[in-house]
Amino acid sequence: MAADHPNPRLILAPLKGFTDAIFRNTLAEHFDGFDGAMAPFVTTVAADRLTDQHVQDLLPQHNTRMPIEPQILGNCADDFIFLARRLRDMGYTQVNWNLGCPFRPVTKKRRGSGLLPFPEPVDEFLDRVLRALPGRLSIKMRLGHRKADEIFKLLPVFNRYPLKEITIHPRTARQMYGGAPDLDAFQACLEASRHPVVYNGDITDLAGFKDLEARFRSVRTWMIGRGALSNPFLPALIKNGCNGGAGRLQKFKDFYEDLFARYQERLCGPGHLLDRMKGFWTYFAEMFESGPSLAKRIHRTFALPRYLDAVERFFKEEPVRPEN
Ligand SMILES: Cc1cc2nc3c(=O)[nH]c(=O)nc-3n(C[C@H](O)[C@H](O)[C@H](O)COP(=O)(O)O)c2cc1C
Repeated sequence: MAADHPNPRLILAPLKGFTDAIFRNTLAEHFDGFDGAMAPFVTTVAADRLTDQHVQDLLPQHNTRMPIEPQILGNCADDFIFLARRLRDMGYTQVNWNLGCPFRPVTKKRRGSGLLPFPEPVDEFLDRVLRALPGRLSIKMRLGHRKADEIFKLLPVFNRYPLKEITIHPRTARQMYGGAPDLDAFQACLEASRHPVVYNGDITDLAGFKDLEARFRSVRTWMIGRGALSNPFLPALIKNGCNGGAGRLQKFKDFYEDLFARYQERLCGPGHLLDRMKGFWTYFAEMFESGPSLAKRIHRTFALPRYLDAVERFFKEEPVRPEN
């Protein structure tokens, strides 16, 4: 039977510290498949403290390769509106509200997933923001902060507002990124939401995507984060069956080299560059058959020449995983 949505829409997930404008542009230059990206969050600040630096990564001239939706983290409606207006002036007609960030410094201030157990302040926030917002609003969230049923008190609130869509990562904040996504809970969310729902979580290969697509037939949009860093061919594989073929390694190497060169130009000092690239290799190492041990070897390098040697050796010697 044909899927209800034969052309899935694929969105690159926001991964702060990874999927900035340099990464998004370089990815889009070298790989097909994504229809757009959600940018990592920008935090609200009091209006008089908002500087160009806050929105640097979102400047349209830095985002020519991939359409993006900015994301805002915060719980103060006035500051949110102020930032959304600034983004509107930059050309963004929709913004996303982050209700998923699980990290304690964020959640203890009742931001990100810290707001999920509190439907009333969420309702008040939406009431104020949606009266004043100069564009459309979407939400990205988890099932709950501590408990997976918190979302079921929020979806009826969301149903009363004109939202563009809701992206659900079916884990609690407590789970962070461990354990399996709760697909039964996601199914129940689809039934409880009148807004379009985007699925996000652990899409790492074609077979896994197909299973999700077959199960959640009303979902048209899928968000992929870590799976696309570990295998940048995945979006094209899902879209058109293209896995890079025999030139897979070379294609990945070309991408990696452009990425490295651009960060080298942008970041001050070898320490920052090394840290950034080590972060990427946590995921990139998965391209190779001996992924985890490669990642360890990279993480053990503390000077740029050592790092460059290690990477060069991988590209020469290590067998690449077959496409999946
Ligand atoms: C390092 C890292 C940074 C993240 N930054 C953000 C962020 O800025 N905004 C957000 O909504 N989610 C953020 N997330 C969550 C991801 O967008 C996504 O929901 C999560 O990784 C699950 O999807 P995946 O399994 O496809 O990676 C981050 C996750 C990681 C691992």
